Amino acid sequence: MRNAPYLDGIDPFAATVRGLTEPDPVRAALRAAGPLVQVDAPAGGRAWIVTDDALAREVLTDPRITKDPAFAPPGWDRDTAGLEQTAAAQPSLTTLDGPEHTALRRAHAPLLNAQRIRAQSGRVHTLARQLLTELATGRTTVDLMAGFTTRYPLTVLLDLLGIPLDRVDQAADSCRQMFGTEPGAQGRAIAALTELAAAGLGEDGRGLAAELRDRVPAHTSPDQLRYHLFGLIFAGQLTTDAALGVLIARALATGRHRGTVDRADTDALIRETLRQHPPAPFTLWRFTTAETEFAGTRLPARAPVLVDIQGISNDPARSPGPDLVFGAGPHFCIGAQLAHLELHAVAAVLRTDFPDARLTVPFTELRLTGIGGLQGSRLTALPVALHG
Ligand code: HEM
Repeated sequence: MRNAPYLDGIDPFAATVRGLTEPDPVRAALRAAGPLVQVDAPAGGRAWIVTDDALAREVLTDPRITKDPAFAPPGWDRDTAGLEQTAAAQPSLTTLDGPEHTALRRAHAPLLNAQRIRAQSGRVHTLARQLLTELATGRTTVDLMAGFTTRYPLTVLLDLLGIPLDRVDQAADSCRQMFGTEPGAQGRAIAALTELAAAGLGEDGRGLAAELRDRVPAHTSPDQLRYHLFGLIFAGQLTTDAALGVLIARALATGRHRGTVDRADTDALIRETLRQHPPAPFTLWRFTTAETEFAGTRLPARAPVLVDIQGISNDPARSPGPDLVFGAGPHFCIGAQLAHLELHAVAAVLRTDFPDARLTVPFTELRLTGIGGLQGSRLTALPVALHG
């Protein structure tokens, strides 16, 4: 058994700013090095990155690989690594595996399945329309990254969960604080978002928060329930925010928001946008529970493993078929249906209500900012004249 090649001097976790149309050279270098590649991890030691689609699907379904941060390399600093607490300290969809994870997924799944989300379609279109109309009123140009892409997914999520919408701005501030650099910023942001989530859990709560409360396993504590709600709010905002920016930019640049565009065309635009610019460029950290072999390569116990979703999605040799934009296996994104609805609704509202909308800078001048780590990039700004 051999060791995976080590790529010295390549940092896939660096903060970046680059043009929307510029390819990411790091991804090509990772792919060229092999299906499983070692790099320096941000929190010290090595990380193993999977760059091959088939191997990624094996890794994402292999019970020898766990999400539990208790298996992180000894000495890793949680903040530097961007890790949650251990599954014992903070059981959640993203820290548990096996039967406990399955039980929690069962509690969540019916709330966010295709049928339930389809039933929200009218409401989500109304929210998209309201927010864009408010933004357009009295303004010639608006920066949709500042005024829309964060607020809209949060508005949809809070509305679904049954949390009053006057808390949207507070939720947006806390989501931004999740990446604050002052000591303790992330802990304070999580505390603020869990407190906010509790607003959906009152006696008269009628949204999905109250429904989840009635469905989670009986041993779930109130704090744990609020953390599950925090997980939905944060994961749902972060990813959809980034996706919306690039989707709107591409729709306006290609005129795909005008005229008679059918659903299949919008589907294709969304799929292509997410594939080229996956909002989650990596999966979350996983760790080997014992020494393991993959594709003839040895991984030590407690090896941190990531799937390079962005590199795999943009592999020129990739065969057509399902992509990894929402992950695969038991941790497949539970919000995928909702994300699709949100993106569709915006494309539809631009078409019906803002057919003259246009970018006020050339598409090729739009820039993506990535804060580094496992986080994806979002457009630095998206200046748009909504009424042309
Ligand atoms: C375009 C938007 C989105 C993208 C690209 C995306 C991507 C992903 C990916 C790749 C994973 C798997 C991570 C892994 O296996 O390590 C994931 C999991 C997850 N996503 Fe999403 N997501 C999106 C929207 C949403 C929304 C709207 C919600 C909330 C309703 C959400 C909630 C979650 C949760 C809770 C998990 C963890 C599931 C588990 O571990 O069982 N996501 N997402």
